[in-house]
Amino acid sequence: MSPVVAFFALFGATLVLLIAVLVTGRAARRRAHLALVALTVSALGATIWQAYRLGETVDLESAGWITPVHMLLARSATLSFAPTALLGLLTLRDGRRRRWHGRLAWLSFALSVLAAVTGVWMLVLAEPR
Ligand code: HEM
Repeated sequence: MSPVVAFFALFGATLVLLIAVLVTGRAARRRAHLALVALTVSALGATIWQAYRLGETVDLESAGWITPVHMLLARSATLSFAPTALLGLLTLRDGRRRRWHGRLAWLSFALSVLAAVTGVWMLVLAEPR
């Protein structure tokens, strides 16, 4: 499988899992929610690993300004999962945190979608090495 196909397969799987995390969270299906969070984090780790492999086959600098914008969004999306998960753990103990956990969850999701869009844009513009 080419690195590009492997990357998009993993990225797509991560986004689908993330949607399932949002749906189970909204439905208060805690067991499914937590299992899907663990799967999403694993898929995200595999996606990042594959992204670095892909980066070796194309010249990302040649894509221009979109590359630093994508890198910022990708890092922000990844980092945003830490406070979202922390508030999720606090929500297990105190349901009043649920609203803030939900807000951060949507922020993580929005950043992930923006990272996906700019990532595709960057790869379309980048020259092969
Ligand atoms: C360690 C990680 C996490 C834990 C322990 C956790 C835990 C929880 C709990 C306990 C609830 C409330 C369910 C209920 O009322 O019974 C919840 C809701 C929710 N969770 Fe998570 N969660 C985690 C990660 C995430 C992530 C990564 C996302 C998405 C990016 C997410 C999205 C949501 C959403 C959208 C809700 C519904 C909030 C609302 O109704 O406003 N969670 N979560």
